[in-house]
Amino acid sequence: MRPSRLLLASTAIATVLGWTTFVVPHSPDKDDVGALLDALPRLTHNSSIIFQKGVTYNLFSPITFPKLTNVEVAIEGNLTYSTNIAGIQDIVSSQNVNYWITFTGGNNVTLRGSTESEWGWIDAHGQAWWDAGILDQRPNSISFSHITDGVIRDMKILKPIAHVFATGGSVNLHAFNNRILSLSDTDSFPFNTDGFSAGGTNMLFENNFIQNGDDCLTVGNGAKDIVFRDSYCEGGHGLSIGSLGKGGQVADVQNVLIENVTMVNSLYAARFKSWTGGNGLARNITWRDIRFDGVLFPLLGPRGPRPNTTNPNNTHVQDFSFENFSGIIRDTPFVEGSCVTDPCWYAVPNATGKEVIIFDLYPGTASNIRTQNISAKTKTGAPVAVMCDPATVSASRR
Ligand SMILES: *[C@@H]1O[C@H](CO)[C@@H](O)[C@H](O)[C@H]1NC(C)=O
Ligand SMILES: *[C@@H]1O[C@H](CO)[C@@H](O)[C@H](O)[C@H]1NC(C)=O
Ligand SMILES: *[C@@H]1O[C@H](CO)[C@@H](O)[C@H](O)[C@H]1NC(C)=O
Ligand SMILES: *[C@@H]1O[C@H](CO)[C@@H](O)[C@H](O)[C@H]1NC(C)=O
Ligand SMILES: *[C@@H]1O[C@H](CO)[C@@H](O)[C@H](O)[C@H]1NC(C)=O
Ligand SMILES: *[C@@H]1O[C@H](CO)[C@@H](O)[C@H](O)[C@H]1NC(C)=O
Ligand SMILES: *[C@@H]1O[C@H](CO)[C@@H](O)[C@H](O)[C@H]1NC(C)=O
Ligand SMILES: *[C@@H]1O[C@H](CO)[C@@H](O)[C@H](O)[C@H]1NC(C)=O
Ligand SMILES: *[C@@H]1O[C@H](CO)[C@@H](O)[C@H](O)[C@H]1NC(C)=O
Ligand SMILES: *[C@@H]1O[C@H](CO)[C@@H](O)[C@H](O)[C@H]1NC(C)=O
Repeated sequence: MRPSRLLLASTAIATVLGWTTFVVPHSPDKDDVGALLDALPRLTHNSSIIFQKGVTYNLFSPITFPKLTNVEVAIEGNLTYSTNIAGIQDIVSSQNVNYWITFTGGNNVTLRGSTESEWGWIDAHGQAWWDAGILDQRPNSISFSHITDGVIRDMKILKPIAHVFATGGSVNLHAFNNRILSLSDTDSFPFNTDGFSAGGTNMLFENNFIQNGDDCLTVGNGAKDIVFRDSYCEGGHGLSIGSLGKGGQVADVQNVLIENVTMVNSLYAARFKSWTGGNGLARNITWRDIRFDGVLFPLLGPRGPRPNTTNPNNTHVQDFSFENFSGIIRDTPFVEGSCVTDPCWYAVPNATGKEVIIFDLYPGTASNIRTQNISAKTKTGAPVAVMCDPATVSASRR
């Protein structure tokens, strides 16, 4: 190591009045993660970790943060993954990597990007993965899990390889002003590039901009008190609850409010997913003030394959509300890029493609499902339809 590098490394960490600031050092063409991992044991409390502006860092290996308390991670420079797909796959399989960046827990943790347009990007070079059709040994992007009092703001993710943010088990989260740019430039499809997977309690997601190829938002089992609002979603699979009840799991999702969201060129706007044979309850879920344009199924409500006689259970749904939807249904010939099965995995038997609402409920599993002020046009001008068997819903109102 040359003396100048030594100097840089030794001055990268500074503690002033009990607060430690670490500027992540950078070596051209080398992996920059090692230097951060070496310093992390000294950065678990009262620290700022800064990827500085003006530098493009090489994020060639995964980062797992230990439990953190009062720590801010600021991505003010650019971060780039390796473009060596096989190399990343080797790391994923040999180190059993799920997320490339993993926060394992703690208190008062902020993950902050940059508001400068030229800086603060994390470029995962996902396009090459999508073009090659690689669906295995893919790293997801950022797990922000088991954190109490967390913030994710101003983050900018370019071409993630797969899922982007997951917040499982966190409590009191504010995620805002984040951008995910995950549309494909070619005919290949950006499979499984879910935007925000909200698991946990008391979370506010707002002012996020998401272009992707899977759920824009997915609210998973155990989630409570989730608000997702004032956002834009394009190209993906909608604002989803679930899937709940897989393999007989007992679902518990409560108090979800999704409002003021624009959905463009998407499979669904609002969507509820549950598995036959599941158990438990999803209650008090509202989607309101949703604008959509070019959406195949604007409102795919509680629905599921009919329970069979071996296990007639289903996830129960209660107090669902869909209000103020308006927009345009894509009823022109179109096959969404994720349609790789025949029939398409998203085909709804007997639907005509002109339905604004599809409810297909099993009797006795749903109560108090309301739709109000739903207005839609089809692209072709054909009349809009609704698919729902009223006998399956109690206390419903339109
Ligand atoms: C972090 O700072 C807080 C208050 O500034 C202080 O109470 C706490 O002891 C510090 N923690 C550590 C590990 O230094
Ligand atoms: C929380 O962390 C931030 C740094 O992200 C720090 O400025 C603030 O003082 C911390 N809050 C408390 C209560 O320690
Ligand atoms: C930072 O990365 C983004 C996304 O790749 C790119 O558009 C921008 O030009 C980069 N900034 C600099 C200064 O290279
Ligand atoms: C709705 O969200 C958009 C951002 O997508 C925002 O500009 C607008 O102010 C929000 N409207 C309300 C009523 O909050
Ligand atoms: C329903 O959820 C909303 C927000 O998502 C919350 O404000 C309200 O208190 C909840 N109502 C009940 C009865 O739990
Ligand atoms: C019924 O569903 C259960 C799981 O819910 C499954 O194990 C079983 O094989 C199914 N039976 C039939 C006849 O499809
Ligand atoms: C079906 O649901 C009931 C009531 O929630 C539960 O007691 C039972 O164990 C469930 N059966 C299966 C096979 O999951
Ligand atoms: C119905 O929703 C639209 C927006 O989708 C809104 O402009 C309109 O005011 C709403 N009407 C009522 C009666 O709430
Ligand atoms: C529907 O939209 C109208 C007009 O913007 C607004 O006054 C009303 O509060 C909205 N209703 C709901 C439930 O959001
Ligand atoms: C589709 O419609 C036909 C004719 O009405 C009916 O027999 C069949 O059960 C329906 N299929 C489904 C899955 O609803």
